[in-house]
Amino acid sequence: MKITVLPGDGIGPEVTAEAVRVLRAVAANHGHRFEFVERPIGGVAIKQTGSPLPPLTLDTCLASDAVLLGAVGAPEYDSLPTNLRPEAGLLLLRRALGGFANLRPAISYDSIAEKSPLRSEIASGADILIVRELLGGLYFGEPRGFFGSNGDSAARNTLSYSVVEIERVARVAFEAARKRRRKVTSVDKANVLETSQLWRQTVSRVALDYPEVTLEHLYVDACAMHLITTPLRFDVILTENLFGDILSDEAAAITGSLGMLPSASIGGAVSLYEPVHGSAPDIAGRAVANPFGAIASAAMMLRYSARLEREADEIEEAIRVVLKAGYRTPDIASGKSRYVAKTSEIGQLVCDAVDELAEMRHAYHAV
Ligand code: IPM
Ligand code: MN
Repeated sequence: MKITVLPGDGIGPEVTAEAVRVLRAVAANHGHRFEFVERPIGGVAIKQTGSPLPPLTLDTCLASDAVLLGAVGAPEYDSLPTNLRPEAGLLLLRRALGGFANLRPAISYDSIAEKSPLRSEIASGADILIVRELLGGLYFGEPRGFFGSNGDSAARNTLSYSVVEIERVARVAFEAARKRRRKVTSVDKANVLETSQLWRQTVSRVALDYPEVTLEHLYVDACAMHLITTPLRFDVILTENLFGDILSDEAAAITGSLGMLPSASIGGAVSLYEPVHGSAPDIAGRAVANPFGAIASAAMMLRYSARLEREADEIEEAIRVVLKAGYRTPDIASGKSRYVAKTSEIGQLVCDAVDELAEMRHAYHAV
C-alpha cells in the first residue's frame, strides 16, 4: 500500500510520526509492504511554496492508496483571506480526494473515563459514530464572500444540499449502523431550514431500504443537549458538514480529550485519515501531544483502505492495552496515571503492544 503522509502544522508532524511508527510495526509483524511518501500541506506548504496545497502534494495523494494527515493551521496566517489560509489546503484536498462521508468514532475508554467532565454513570460506555457529510453545505456553497458598498460591509455563505449528496452519505450511515447497534440519529434544523427539510425527507426514504435499522430525527440544538445529558442513547449520528464539525468536538469531550478521536473520509477516489484534533500550536514541539487519535486513524486506514480488519483491530486493542497500563499524555493524565509519557513514548508503547498481540496470535495459530 502506498501511503501519502501529510504531517502539516503544529503538532501534526509529532502525531503522524507515531502513527507511521505503528503502521511500520504492523507491516513487519504481518508481512505487509507499506510505502510512505511525505509531502507538505497547510502552513508549512505556504512557507515552502506559497500554496497551502501544492500541486505535487495533491498529485502524490491522488496517486496513492491512502492519505494520512496530521493537522493544518497556524496563528501567523489568521489574517490571510480564506482561500490562502492553511485550512484552505485541507478543504481543497478533501474535495479533490472525494471522500464525502467523514466517520468520527467517539469512544469512552474505561481507563480514562474519569477525564470526562461528565459523571462516569452518564458517559461511561459511550460509543458513538458520527457520520459527517464532508463535501457540501456551508463549507463549499457558492456564492460566498464579502460584498456590499465597501467590499466588506456584508458577507455571505450559501447552504445547499442536493438529494444525491444526502442519499450517498445516508447510505454510509445506515450501512455502518447495520454492523453496530442498528440505530441512526439524523440531525438537522428542519424547523427552520429548507436544506434540513430535504435532508430529513431524503434520509427517511433511504431508511426504507434498511428496515432493521431504527431511524430517529433530532434537531441540532436538542442533539447538542442530549449528547451531554444522555450520550448512551446514541449509536450512529448522521449529519451535515457544519453540524458534524461542531457535534464531533462536543462528542470528543465526552471521551475525555479531543486528542483521542480519529477520523476517516471515505467514498471518494482516495480515502483520507486524520485525527479530529487541530494543530494545537500552543503545545507544538514539546513532546506532549496526544498521538492516540492519529494512531487510531491509522487503524481506520487499515480497515477501510487496506481491508486489513484484523490488523486494524490489533491497533485498537493495543491502544486499550497502553491506556489500561496507565500511560498517559498530559491531556488525559490524572491521579491514576502510572506515567505521563512523551508523544514518542506512547507511540513506542503502542508498537510494543501491537508486537505482543501479533506474537500471541501467531503462537495461537501454531498450536
Ligand atoms: C475538522 C477541522 C476542519 C473542519 C478545519 C481545520 C477546516 O475543524 O476537521 O473538524 O472544519 O472541518
Ligand atoms: Mn472541527
